[in-house]
Amino acid sequence: MKIAILNGPNLNLLGRREPDLYGTRSFEDYLEELRRDFPQVCFEYCQSNHEGVLIDRLQEAGFRCDGIVLNAAAYTHTSIALADAVRAVPAPVMEVHLTDIEAREPFRRLSYLKDVCAGRFVGMGLESYRKAVEALIALKYQPK
Ligand code: DQA
Repeated sequence: MKIAILNGPNLNLLGRREPDLYGTRSFEDYLEELRRDFPQVCFEYCQSNHEGVLIDRLQEAGFRCDGIVLNAAAYTHTSIALADAVRAVPAPVMEVHLTDIEAREPFRRLSYLKDVCAGRFVGMGLESYRKAVEALIALKYQPK
């Protein structure tokens, strides 16, 4: 099973960026743990600070992978183009956020991705990604 993880702007700074909010662990370090815990999954990982690059990767992975875990970071709240890309691909996409975006500033409550994604995992720190991976695995193997 192939899962692509796409991280948006500023998530390359995880571990160093606002650690009180986002924690002290880098995503690369956490990804090693995911790879160990889900040996049946082949993970692809891409982080970009650029909206167009994320759309390109989503389009590409979305026709090839079994699922996508997407933390679009601030583009969650602004990008209709990214939401259209999610809608355009056959692979299920899970929206994830480390923090609980509903409980922060009002502008973070709007998510263009919410209605187009297959599920949403927020507010659990890096463990939001694990829950999203588990949900994608469950989706793939659920009886038709
Ligand atoms: C975030 C929440 C977004 O509002 C913010 O812009 C981020 C990170 C999260 O994972 O909690 O960069 O997506």
